[in-house]
Amino acid sequence: MSFDLAVLISGNGSNLQAIIDAIARNEIDASIKIVISDRMDAKGLERAQKANIATYFIEPAKYQSKEEFNDALSQILLKHQVSLTVLAGFMRILSDKFVAKHLGRLINIHPSLLPNYKGLNTHQRVIDAGESEHGASVHFVTPKLDDGPIILQSSIPVLKSDNSDQLKQKIHKIEHIIYPKAIELISKGKIELKNEHVYFDGVVMTEQNRYYKIN
Ligand code: GRF
Repeated sequence: MSFDLAVLISGNGSNLQAIIDAIARNEIDASIKIVISDRMDAKGLERAQKANIATYFIEPAKYQSKEEFNDALSQILLKHQVSLTVLAGFMRILSDKFVAKHLGRLINIHPSLLPNYKGLNTHQRVIDAGESEHGASVHFVTPKLDDGPIILQSSIPVLKSDNSDQLKQKIHKIEHIIYPKAIELISKGKIELKNEHVYFDGVVMTEQNRYYKIN
């Protein structure tokens, strides 16, 4: 059975591009059925079109409430029968009902070493706190923001000379490795969410084995 993805974006879509490229290199045995954006001007939509992937612009202003927007989004995913929904810079908080419906089949990437630095503006906050390490995390989405069980993480050292933009670029580089890797593992059935825990080959993942070392 084919493993079909939906990728949800709001902006640049560099993570989407990394996934497109990993599929093209046959590193992931999956296909992107649809790329959905809540912004018409998202650069990621162009990236998808260039790769001949169907795109859909879901216009938030068309819906009376957050719930209606979420229901419409759910309908689109259902229609495309996707196996996994990948949030890649999608700047909207999904409703609890949406999350419950897609639990275990909905993942996100966050630019920090979760559970530290949930929310926005992580790079500057890491610098301001004088951290020596920063990173990115792929996690299953649960109702609480940036809080779901972690699938993979990787880190980089924070240099004294790093500014927020430089850190952002470095974090993007590791995101572009761990996000396709996590999708590959899920598509192979190696990783799954059960009873609020991430299992790898049937065994609960620990902090050690969810750390992805990048050389
Ligand atoms: C990434 O840093 C990701 O961690 C966060 O949003 C950003 C999206 O970047 N959730 P891009 O649109 O994939 O370039």
